[in-house]
Amino acid sequence: ALRASFATKAQKESQNFHRHFLPQAAYKVAVLGAAGGIGQPLALLIKMSPLVSDLHLYDIANVKGVAADLSHCNTPSQVKDFTGASELPNCLRDVDVVVIPAGVPRKPGMTRDDLFNINAGIVRDLVSAVADYCPNAFIHIISNPVNSTVPIAAEILKQKGVYDSKKLFGVTTLDVVRANTFVAQKKNLKLIDVDVPVVGGHAGITILPLLSKTRPSVSFSDEEIEKLTVRIQNAGTEVVEAKAGAGSATLSMAYAAARFVESSLRALDGDGDVYECSFVQSDLTDLPFFASRVKLGRNGVEALIPSDLQGLTEYEQKALEALKEELKASIEKGVAFAQKQA
Ligand code: NAI
Repeated sequence: ALRASFATKAQKESQNFHRHFLPQAAYKVAVLGAAGGIGQPLALLIKMSPLVSDLHLYDIANVKGVAADLSHCNTPSQVKDFTGASELPNCLRDVDVVVIPAGVPRKPGMTRDDLFNINAGIVRDLVSAVADYCPNAFIHIISNPVNSTVPIAAEILKQKGVYDSKKLFGVTTLDVVRANTFVAQKKNLKLIDVDVPVVGGHAGITILPLLSKTRPSVSFSDEEIEKLTVRIQNAGTEVVEAKAGAGSATLSMAYAAARFVESSLRALDGDGDVYECSFVQSDLTDLPFFASRVKLGRNGVEALIPSDLQGLTEYEQKALEALKEELKASIEKGVAFAQKQA
C-alpha cells in the first residue's frame, strides 16, 4: 500500500511538472468573415480553446467591436482585429489555421449555387492572400457553394505555386453533426456515441449520409433511410426557411466549424487519432474532389478512409452514382471560374 501511494505521489508530481513547465500548445488561428453570423459565434468557440494562443479576426467591417468584446474573456488566446484588405497580410502572417466563412448566405428559395457569383470572387481574393502570407496553413472553406469554392481555392493556390492538397478542406462537419443528431433522435440513442459518415459534397443530393455505416451499428427501415437522408440533405434549407430571410445556419455551423478547427489543432499537436469528414482532393471516386472521412495529421490529410465507401447498400450506391453528375458540374464550374481569372 505504501509503495502504491508513493507511485501515486510520484505520478502526481510528474503531472504537475508537466502542467507547469511544458509549454502550452500554442496555435494561431485566423477567421476571415469574423463579424458575420457564423464568424462571431465561431470566434467565441475558438476563443474557448486551450490550444489557441492567437485569434485573428478579419472582416471588411464591424470586426473591431467583436474583437474588443471577445478579448475580455479570460481564456488564454490573444484576440486581434483586422479590417479591410490592407490589414489582411498582418492578419495572416504565421497563422496555422485559416477559417473562411466570408460571403453571403442563402435566403428562402435560393440554392447554394445561387451564391456563386458573389462568393466565388470573395474566396478567390482571400485564398490569394493566404497563398501570399501563410501558404503552409490549413485552410477551412465554409463559404458556399463549397462544392465550387474549394476547387476555386485549389486553382488559386496552384496558380501561386503553393497548392498542398492535404491542407485544403471544405467544411462539411455540419452535415455530420446534423446526421448524428437526427439519427440519435430517431433511434433514441445517446447522442455522444453516434457517428454517421457523410460523403459526396455539400449541397442537396450531393450530401450523402451513409446510414448503413452508422456507429454504433443500427438498423433502419427503408422508409426511415429515405426520410433521414432527405432531412439531412435539406436541413440547411429547414433553417433558411425558419429564419425567413434573416440568413442561414450560423450557430450550428459555428459549432461544427469549431469542432473541425479543434480537430485540426489536435492533429497539428501530434494526436494520432483524429478523423473527420471533409470535402477534399480525393481519388476515392472518379471525381477530383469528394467528401469522405479523412485521417488528420500534422501535415493535414494523412489518409483518406476508403472503407466507408465499401459494401454500400443498394440505396447508397444509387445515391452515390446519382450525385456525381451535379458534383462534377459544380467542381468544373469552380475550376473554370478560377482559370478564367488567371
Ligand atoms: P453573413 O452575411 O452573416 O456573414 C458574412 C461575413 O462575411 C460578413 O461579416 C461580411 O462582412 C463578410 N465578408 C464579405 N465579404 C468579405 C470579404 N471580401 N472579406 C472578408 N469578409 C467578407 O453570412 P453567414 O451566415 O456568416 O454565412 C457565411 C457563409 O457561410 C455563406 O456563404 C454561407 O452560405 C456559408 N455557410 C456554409 C455552411 C457549411 O456547412 N459549409 C453552413 C452555413 C453557411
